[in-house]
Amino acid sequence: MTGKLRRPSFRLPPIISASGPGIAQASLGLAPIGRAIQQLASKSRYRAANHVEDPDHRPHYAYCVQQSARLAKRLGYPRISVIEFGVAGGQGLITLEHLCSAISRRLGIEIEVYGFDTGTGLPEPKDYRDLPYHWRPGFYAMDIPALRARLSYAQLVLGNLSDTAGAFFAEFSPAPIGAAIFDLDFYSSTVDALKLFEGPRGSRLPRVFCYFDDIIGGDIELYNDFTGERLAIAEFNAGHERIKLSPAYHLIAVPPVAEWHHQIYILHDFQHPDYGTFVSDPDQQLPLRHRPGRRPRPEISGRTP
Ligand SMILES: C[S@@+](CC[C@H](N)C(=O)[O-])C[C@H]1O[C@@H](n2cnc3c(N)ncnc32)[C@H](O)[C@@H]1O
Repeated sequence: MTGKLRRPSFRLPPIISASGPGIAQASLGLAPIGRAIQQLASKSRYRAANHVEDPDHRPHYAYCVQQSARLAKRLGYPRISVIEFGVAGGQGLITLEHLCSAISRRLGIEIEVYGFDTGTGLPEPKDYRDLPYHWRPGFYAMDIPALRARLSYAQLVLGNLSDTAGAFFAEFSPAPIGAAIFDLDFYSSTVDALKLFEGPRGSRLPRVFCYFDDIIGGDIELYNDFTGERLAIAEFNAGHERIKLSPAYHLIAVPPVAEWHHQIYILHDFQHPDYGTFVSDPDQQLPLRHRPGRRPRPEISGRTP
């Protein structure tokens, strides 16, 4: 569950924060400093979302919402849906509502919020793949009236996902799914939740920002590739030719790397009609630079070689 997430840190690298740029430049040279600043700038998108709008300190939620809204905006979608699978008491869903309101106002995109949960806490583990050495049925039961009283517009989808996932699109007609937070703890429940990515055409963005809460853990959980959420992800990929979940390599390659960066996956729907729609910088050129100290040769016209 999300409470186990270690607080991520966005401190500047010590060489910059402790010594100041002058000393750092003297000891490292200019290029590494430039690179460090560039790296920090490239992470500023979710730093801003986290610090400005995230009172519960869930940068992983902020990142998924903000990036899915940006993608939707670039593709010209007016509305998206954001889902939390596994709500428990509801603190995460309240945070999600708060983040979605702020990001919706900022980007001019409507965001619907859905929270899936049994309402009665964890079901019985089905077998060893649900990690019964760590989870017990009834953990994380919801106080439904108390949560409903705190929610402004998020919709609760109550019941076991094995029953609710199949009826979701017909019952709610949700806007395309842009982001999904997976915090169901079990392999079997995550398999059921991932079936929403088999929904009808138009039920998701071409790339969906996902967060998986239970893939790192600690010395008791011992999450691995053969049980739990990691197994559900692997089986989803093996079972789908044209739709895949991939780690977000751009987050884990560039320091500073937080634990949650390893927990972000992107769903790529290669057959989505908008998968190839251009969303990048429209002005990309790499002209040849003049050699230092040499003037460009004047153009010779009217002569054939
Ligand atoms: C760790 S809690 C979620 C915590 C919440 N995301 C947060 O950050 O506060 C896991 C939740 O998943 C729900 N859950 C697990 N399997 C489920 C299933 N098959 N159908 C519906 N809900 C399920 C449980 O009821 C439980 O409340």
